[in-house]
Amino acid sequence: MRTPIIAGNWKMNNTIADTKALITDLIPLVKDAKAEVVICTPYTDLATAVEMTKGTNIKVGAENVHWAEKGAFTGEISANMLVELGVTYVIIGHSERRQYFGETDQTVNARVKAALAKGLKPIICVGETLEEREGGKVEEVLVRQTTEALKDIAKEELGNIVVAYEPVWAIGTGKTATAEVANDTIKIIRDTIAKLYCPACAEEKVRIQYGGSMNPKNVKELMSMPEIDGGLIGGASLKAADFSLVVNY
Ligand code: PGA
Repeated sequence: MRTPIIAGNWKMNNTIADTKALITDLIPLVKDAKAEVVICTPYTDLATAVEMTKGTNIKVGAENVHWAEKGAFTGEISANMLVELGVTYVIIGHSERRQYFGETDQTVNARVKAALAKGLKPIICVGETLEEREGGKVEEVLVRQTTEALKDIAKEELGNIVVAYEPVWAIGTGKTATAEVANDTIKIIRDTIAKLYCPACAEEKVRIQYGGSMNPKNVKELMSMPEIDGGLIGGASLKAADFSLVVNY
């Protein structure tokens, strides 16, 4: 069985002071969660988050990582730097990065490789835009994004990889994919991984989350679907009460 994983994506929210308050509230609320609990924070909050969550069931993730080990890349952060901080997970290829910061399938793949090489667990985001869904391109887009992201990644690494299916039209819009649509679309991703590697690899190793306006109200239904192994939570991860309700679905 695949262990469910609920991850918060704080995006560009929370100062260190906000982080301290939020994590203090969160720790007792999620301590008995059945799901693996992750919070992905801005770089500036990572040290505080790692320190505060030591000895708890909360793991910490970053929201991006550069593909190079080091060098002249002003403003970037390497996998080594994250590992040294005690970071476990890293979101890669979020649609906001693809949309606003020129992220491509190729740079996603380069970042995934760099993360895995240093022992970070990537949460790889894929998902179609509204235009692509309406144009009947969902399968084409997801097969391409998944295949490119996993290019040259060894089968042995699959257990360290999480995929987040995030339809772009559902992010921060309050519009959630219905549980059936999310489930069917995640099945396309799992089938793609099965073809690239092997059916058992896709079935047993890779956890696939849904993301896009997941919240305390819709989490139960989404998590009841057989293909959905967790959630990547934006807005609802910024309040301890809401995030704990999602985590304890
Ligand atoms: P949302 O964001 O939950 O606010 O829709 C999800 C995400 O972008 O990861």
